[in-house]
Amino acid sequence: MTTQYFTISTPDDAAQIAAAAAILRRGGLLAIPTETVYGLGADGLNADAVLRIFEAKGRPQDNPLILHIPDASWLTRYCENVPDAAYRLADAFWPGPLTMILPKKPMVPLRTTGGLDTVGMRCPDHAVTRAIIEAAGVPVAAPSANTSGRPSCTTAAHVRADMDGKIDGVVDGGDCAVGVESTIIDLTVTPPRLLRPGGLPLEKLRAVLGEVALDKAVTQQLSAGEQPRAPGMKYRHYAPKAPVTVVTGTPAESGRWLRANVPDGAGLILFDEFAPLFPLNTVRAIGSCRDKAEQARRVFDALRSFDDTGVTEIYAQCPDSEGLGLAVGNRLKKAAGFHTVDGRDGKFVIGLTGQTGAGKTSVLRALAALGAYSVDCDAFYYEQLRTDAALQRDLDAAFPGVLRGGELDRQKLGSVVFGDASALARLDEIVRRHLPRAVAKVIAASDAPLAAIDAIKLTESGLAALCDAVAAVTAPEDERIRRVMARDGIDEARARARVQAQKDEAFYRATCDAVFENDYPGVAEAEAAAREFVYHLLRGSKEES
Ligand code: TXA
Ligand code: MG
Repeated sequence: MTTQYFTISTPDDAAQIAAAAAILRRGGLLAIPTETVYGLGADGLNADAVLRIFEAKGRPQDNPLILHIPDASWLTRYCENVPDAAYRLADAFWPGPLTMILPKKPMVPLRTTGGLDTVGMRCPDHAVTRAIIEAAGVPVAAPSANTSGRPSCTTAAHVRADMDGKIDGVVDGGDCAVGVESTIIDLTVTPPRLLRPGGLPLEKLRAVLGEVALDKAVTQQLSAGEQPRAPGMKYRHYAPKAPVTVVTGTPAESGRWLRANVPDGAGLILFDEFAPLFPLNTVRAIGSCRDKAEQARRVFDALRSFDDTGVTEIYAQCPDSEGLGLAVGNRLKKAAGFHTVDGRDGKFVIGLTGQTGAGKTSVLRALAALGAYSVDCDAFYYEQLRTDAALQRDLDAAFPGVLRGGELDRQKLGSVVFGDASALARLDEIVRRHLPRAVAKVIAASDAPLAAIDAIKLTESGLAALCDAVAAVTAPEDERIRRVMARDGIDEARARARVQAQKDEAFYRATCDAVFENDYPGVAEAEAAAREFVYHLLRGSKEES
């Protein structure tokens, strides 16, 4: 069959809307955009048309479909005993990513509901699709438009990849704005029960309904005999070809676990902040760890995209379960068949950065007094240059001759990169390839519950992402120049040049969680203030969590 492609950008495009609706009216299959994911639509009252949906997707027939309607006034056409709660939810959230399970009327075929006497009802937040449903005059049964078992489609290109030649038409409505499927709430039980987390956060449902129970299938793999209330939740889902492992814990914890444990070449689904730390992996960044809406938009595309690569295993960072995190984490865990590893290490890692001469030492002493294990990244790097054979090999390949008789000539390396921006960039790249992994490993191996990573370029190197909190130490420029002169025995002009080559205070204020201004006249005062500062950092983190 030749699939017809429609690009309809407005619900006022009456001719195109009528052409698309005609496919539904004559019992054909039409992929439709929604705010969550693309749906594979057919006339939900026509059992033959609905059968073709199951065939095109390769979907088990006991897995019921959702009926899509243009507004809540259609509910009573297809549902019996619609409770008041349904109207309250529709008022609050429709059109939007919420599906309600209600008792069905006999006119809804059992084929549509997988043999159940209930039916899922949803009003999508996509004006073009609502206009097509109105024009067709029938409720549209539409599962996600992916081939059964694959990640859902969030772009028309995904739909083409799975359905071209198998269905009558595809309406291209752009990329899906939400990116994970609708939240499903069962209103036929008391209290109402969440069957699938989705684009509408559970917290918002609870704000309207009060108590909402959580179906076990949301958070766990069901054992062989158990039946979830949403039949679809029992099937392996969303899975790329390569097996997936989900790593739990805070972003910093899962990041540390991954950096200490994943092999080069593995596929990774990461928060944006962590991507630079894995230069030798196939990385799909799905948005900042602070932006769950972006993670939701990108998670399915990330899962799909690995199938075009040669990766044989995939690891994913998992958001916490607040807000949209519950849905994003659920999709990742389902893609992994609930294969998860616990990345939590119970450690608190402080990143410490700041300009040369600012006086980080006071803060490091305060941390040491608390038993912190600390990694001085400069010293650690020099140690690695001496001892890490793989690092030496890479440096020797990039800068021939720096390795002599098994020893790395630091002076020579320094002179090669000095004043040569492209050589320096190559060196930085090699260091990034080796250092964060080594740092993560020593922190993982240490017994101390508190650790510090001390690095001038903490943010630029990406290491800041591995920290639970990042602190900067600053001091007035003249003070720093004075300290550098005294410390390194150099004249004022050279000290000034060195200090001025560094980032200014505004950079640290913008990139760090806290700034310690080390403008104290004496060492004792500085250290007393540093202790207060560290307590404050640790307390702040406890209050947050
Ligand atoms: O966002 C969405 O909901 C998308 C778009 C296209 O609207 N649709 C979607 O449909 O995700 P589908 O078929 O991929 O997932 C529907 C889920 C399945 O897990 C199914 O078992 C469950 O809803 N479901 C449907 N009707 C049900 C019912 N009467 N009782 C319990 N679960 C039901
Ligand atoms: Mg689906």
